[in-house]
Amino acid sequence: MSHASPLRLGVLGSGKGSNFCAIADAIAVGSVNAEVALVLTDVAGAGILGHAESRRIPSRFLEPGKFRTKLDEAAEAAYVAALVEARVDLVVLAGFMRILKGEFLRAFEGRVINIHPSLLPSFPGLEAWKQALDYGVKITGCTVHFVDQGIDTGAIIGQRAVPVLDADTAASLHERIQLAERVLYPEVVAALARGEVQSRGRQTRGFMAAPW
Ligand code: GRF
Repeated sequence: MSHASPLRLGVLGSGKGSNFCAIADAIAVGSVNAEVALVLTDVAGAGILGHAESRRIPSRFLEPGKFRTKLDEAAEAAYVAALVEARVDLVVLAGFMRILKGEFLRAFEGRVINIHPSLLPSFPGLEAWKQALDYGVKITGCTVHFVDQGIDTGAIIGQRAVPVLDADTAASLHERIQLAERVLYPEVVAALARGEVQSRGRQTRGFMAAPW
């Protein structure tokens, strides 16, 4: 992915949209050569919609269909169509709480990324910060990775570490991980927009984050 013109992003989120804001703000100050072409959410009234509207970025709630954890076939087709119509180069998952599979990943092969709140492959799945705290690790963090058919299993592009403090609660640790996410995600998108990331199977090269 190498782009002289701004990389067109499609952002999918289900929640408050802090990662979307971090990316949009980094674009606005010129640190990322990209443009958010479209924001889609599966949650009517999700915070991310308000943030998109206040930045005058096109955004829509799109029905997710009959399942709880994934898009149904019709919804998947509608999401793909909306992103294709917006001429999206890269799909950025920012707290999108549904698994994307099959047709969606085929339509955007190698062009879907996600941020996960742990140092993968440790603690995939839900509430990764709580898993890390319960396990007793001393360092956790966040990971940006390409999305494949598995859950949080795709090739890793970049990671940023967050120390676990003795006084941490799940909430305080989660908050510091989210601060790290807001640094890491725009940096990774910037590197992708500059065409610096190469990937071969599980190995990616070309992006190095400050460790924290
Ligand atoms: C992030 O913390 C990310 O790790 C996870 O979902 C959360 C979304 O937060 N995938 P926000 O909507 O970007 O604020």
